Parts: sequence; C-alpha cells; structure tokens
Amino acid sequence: MKTIDINLESTRYPVYLGRGCLHDRSLWDRHLGRGKVLLVTNETVAPLYLSLLLEALGGRKAEVHVLPDGEQHKTVKTWNGILDKLVDMQARRDATLIALGGGVVGDITGYAAASYMRGVRFMQAPTTLLAQVDASVGGKTGVNHPQGKNLIGAFHQPHAVMIDSATLDTLPAREFNAGMAEVVKYGALCNREFHDWLQANSARIAARDGQAVDYLIERSVLDKAEIVGQDEKESGIRALLNLGHSFGHALESETAYARFLHGEAVAIGMVTAARLSENRGLCEPGTAASLAALLKKFDLPVLIPEDLSVERLAAALKLDKKAVASGLRLVLLKSIGEAVVDQGSTAEQILNAIKESQG
Ligand code: NAD
Ligand code: GLY
Repeated sequence: MKTIDINLESTRYPVYLGRGCLHDRSLWDRHLGRGKVLLVTNETVAPLYLSLLLEALGGRKAEVHVLPDGEQHKTVKTWNGILDKLVDMQARRDATLIALGGGVVGDITGYAAASYMRGVRFMQAPTTLLAQVDASVGGKTGVNHPQGKNLIGAFHQPHAVMIDSATLDTLPAREFNAGMAEVVKYGALCNREFHDWLQANSARIAARDGQAVDYLIERSVLDKAEIVGQDEKESGIRALLNLGHSFGHALESETAYARFLHGEAVAIGMVTAARLSENRGLCEPGTAASLAALLKKFDLPVLIPEDLSVERLAAALKLDKKAVASGLRLVLLKSIGEAVVDQGSTAEQILNAIKESQG
C-alpha cells in the first residue's frame, strides 16, 4: 500500500492507495474519531462493498444511510436526508461520516459533513475511477441546483481517503471510461509525460491491467495533490483542474444530467476548449485532434451531438459559476501539458468553437 500526503494551508491528510485497503482494519482504527459513525452509500454500491467495510470497522458500531443512485439525486433533498439521519441518531460534533461510493455519494456526504454542526469529520472511500482520481481528493463538496451543477456546496477536506482499486473490478466499462476523461485531463493540463504514457499504454488501460490502473490513479492523485497544495480554495491555479468543465457542465445541464456521464461531458468539453484554444492561436493546430484521439481510445465521446442547440449551450455557459461578469473565464490550452485560465474569448469565438465541435 502507498500513501500520498495532501498538504494544504488548512490541514493535511493521507490518501491510501492499494488493492484491499478498504478492508484494512488498522487504517479505519487510526482515522475514526470517538463519536458516532454514519456510513453513507447508495443502493448500487451497498450490496457490493457495504458488508466488507462494516467488517473492516471491526466492533465499531456504525449507522448506515443508503441513498438512491444517480446524479439526479445529488440534491438539497438528498443532502437534507443525511442531516435528518444525523439528528435522529443524535450525532454530536465528534461524529464521523464515511462516504462509500462514487463522486455523487462523496460530494453529498462531504457537504453533509461540512454542514452538520458547522463541520464534522468525514472520510472518503471512493469506488469509481472518477472519484478515485479526482472527486475524493481536494475537499470540494456539494449538490446541484436545477439551474446549474454544483451550485451549492462548501470546501470541506476529508480526514483520510482510502482508494482501493479492487473496487473497480465491478465498475461498468462506461463508468471506467468516464473516469479516464479526468485522468486524460491531468496529462493535458499539466503533465505532457503522463499524456504520452497514457497514449503508449492505452491498450493495457482499456484492458484494465492492474499495474497500469494503479499507476494512473497514483499519478493523477499526485498531480491533483500538487495543484490543490498550492491553491486549496481555487483562487488561482486550482481553476486549471476545471479544464473541459465549463463546456461539460453546460452539456450536462442542457441534457438534464441524463444523457452524459460527467466524465463524458468533460471529454467533449476538453476537446471543445482545445479547439477554441487553437482558433485563438494559443496552441498549435492539431492539439484538439490529438487530445480527441487519446479520449477515443477509451470510447469517450469527443463531439457535441448535433441535436443540441448552440445558442442554448452558450447561454448555459453563462450560468457556470466559474463565469465572471466581464466575460467568460475559461481554461484553455497553450499545449498538451500546459493549461491557462483565460478571459479573452469573444462570444463569437466561443459560439464558433461550439459549432465546430458538433458532429
Ligand atoms: P457516480 O457517483 O454517479 O457513480 C457512477 C455509477 O457507478 C453509479 O451508478 C454508482 O452507483 C456506480 N458505482 C460506484 N462504484 C461502483 C463499483 N465499484 N462497482 C459498480 N458500480 C459502482 O459518478 P462518478 O463518476 O463517480 O462521480 C461523478 C460526480 O462526481 C459528479 O457529480 C461530479 O460533479 C462529481 N465530481 C466531484 C469532484 C470534486 O472535486 N468534488 C470532482 C469530479 C467530479
Ligand atoms: N475537480 C476539480 C477540483 O477539484 O478542483
């Protein structure tokens, strides 16, 4: 088992990586507080990993709260259900919440932990690739508003993160591939060497070779740790992690969170951002095509479906909380391996990039 330390201004915590770490009793003993424990999971993950985790908690009594599955349940209502449960079980400030599941469970549970009694301890046990390489690390928590994704939330760092790659054995291919979009993102935004490694090893990754998958999880968490360590609350460099997300969030909200998985929308969004960067002369022609070629190796979509209205997507972009009053702030590419936050795109350039990305 490996450990990566996340060192932040406000706190530090370990991310444990390794097959089987989810049922390492000593890890849980080390990190659970003295208070009551609430384990939050969902109806899909519970039958797969709940008993394993309860066993790992040893004699420690834990209450369980099972959420319905799906991004459409990442709402204030679901969050409130966790708070009701905490009140019912008379949890105090020394309580610990455990999020067992993908990014949806992690984001909602983290936000409940941030809110209950102004903040209690929580631990992340991510079980999707996307949550392992991104969502479980860095302390962004929250829920969606019908008007936009992740509009409600808080920064609240976990006490520890247990990344057990064995849980990916049951993850459907489409979900695994969606996670690969966030992995490709790290290479594109800050790590050309990793991008090249992903290209060279795409067949092994697609076949879910254990060593390759463990390496890409570790590399992604290291890249995220490096960025979040410099900018915990996204006042600067952390915004680069949103590469592809402004276009992606617009795609997700325009399709009522039902058509694309988050990672799929991010894949299309990254290629659209690369196309805009090319058109603006920020990066070499061919950058979007080479990013698209890598994403396609993981069966990810790279084009905006033609039935979606360009004007509506552009309007949805303005609702993105990363937009600023004076113009859209977007993450663009100077090259593969170097992203930049940019506010210099005109509405026409953005519309054109969206149009050119349709197909
Ligand atoms: P998800 O949580 O919906 O999980 C995907 C599906 O896989 C679900 O049906 C889930 O029940 C199922 N599942 C989970 N683990 C499984 C396993 N081991 N075997 C079989 N099925 C399993 O989606 P996700 O892609 O994990 O996360 C997406 C969410 O994460 C979005 O809401 C996104 O906004 C959020 N996110 C947050 C951050 C952050 O920094 N907080 C970063 C990226 C994404
Ligand atoms: N997923 C983007 C971030 O954590 O900042």
